[in-house]
Amino acid sequence: MSTERKDQHVALAQKLRDESRPNGFDDIGFIHHSLAAIDVARVDLSTSVLGARWPLPFYINAMTGGSQRTARINAGLGRAARAAGVAIATGSQHIALRDASLEDSFRVVRREAPDAFVFANVGPTVSPEQARRAVQMLDADALQVHINPAQEIVMPEGDRQFSDWAQRIEAIAGAVPVPVLAKEVGFGLSRRSIEELARRGVRAADVSGAGGTNFIDIENHRRRRSEYGYLAGWGQSSAFCLLESLHLPPAVPLEILASGGVRHPLDVVRALALGARAVGVSGHFLHTLLDEGEEALIAELARWAEQLSSIMALMGCASLAELSKVDLLVTGRTAELARLRGID
Ligand code: FNR
Repeated sequence: MSTERKDQHVALAQKLRDESRPNGFDDIGFIHHSLAAIDVARVDLSTSVLGARWPLPFYINAMTGGSQRTARINAGLGRAARAAGVAIATGSQHIALRDASLEDSFRVVRREAPDAFVFANVGPTVSPEQARRAVQMLDADALQVHINPAQEIVMPEGDRQFSDWAQRIEAIAGAVPVPVLAKEVGFGLSRRSIEELARRGVRAADVSGAGGTNFIDIENHRRRRSEYGYLAGWGQSSAFCLLESLHLPPAVPLEILASGGVRHPLDVVRALALGARAVGVSGHFLHTLLDEGEEALIAELARWAEQLSSIMALMGCASLAELSKVDLLVTGRTAELARLRGID
């Protein structure tokens, strides 16, 4: 059943993808200064994440593993990560923690990208010992813990016990030999959630907001009768989550990353300008791999790096740090939400 679910998630994520729909990132703009541009060659795209230096500030975010088809996808994603020099996460390893014959569908990522920064991935319900095994399975540099209560609620077979999740995350963070990053799966981490995660020993948070892959929509499409169609707009956009996170108290020592609805290099720049250290992409890269093939994904990753440098040069920014000083405009629904939440 679970193996079948992995294949269905990939198929539905691909089928339901619609990048022409506006999302929160469209509310983020910049004032154009015609004489501010710098030489493209001066732009340094590198960033630091959890103590490591990444040459590029975007990465292939958590998706899959656990079946033959998804093993092939992970192999392609791994080779693309290696060719482009980007970090990569696997999908949830729960299935392989229960059935060792499926481990290889995850290990393939490390095999194909031996030098990449690799994230392992589990949910809060695994034991600290299982979390350690997930890290070992991939010789991972860090562990992602996905927090997906909205998705679980919509799945008839999903979890129904959530009240101990924060405690469980703390136990995992205390037990694994690598830093822990907590992430949503497309519904957004609020400032309150991020503050709680920091108290629980988590070192980084990927806000993974709404606007791209939507697991309520995906789960609704997996069954003939959709029970929760009206929940499809649940959650906060990545742009709004980042705005909120800019107002975290200085005492919250957590690194902020972003994902959810990132469609092109301008969205990456928008997220970086809103304070993200790095930007994860799932749906768009999966789509490129499945529709156009591995070489096309490798070319797409190179194109993103090149265009990021160009956009930053246009904005007069030689480094990611300089993006925090640009003239940012927040409009539309994102501005309205920010006003309601007292964020200026
Ligand atoms: C995901 N995502 C995900 N996240 C996670 O932490 N563990 C997982 O196993 C999965 N599985 C998964 C499967 C597929 C097919 C997709 C497309 C995505 C969620 C992903 O990491 C990300 O948070 C969201 O997809 C939002 O980003 P995009 O897709 O809008 O770029």
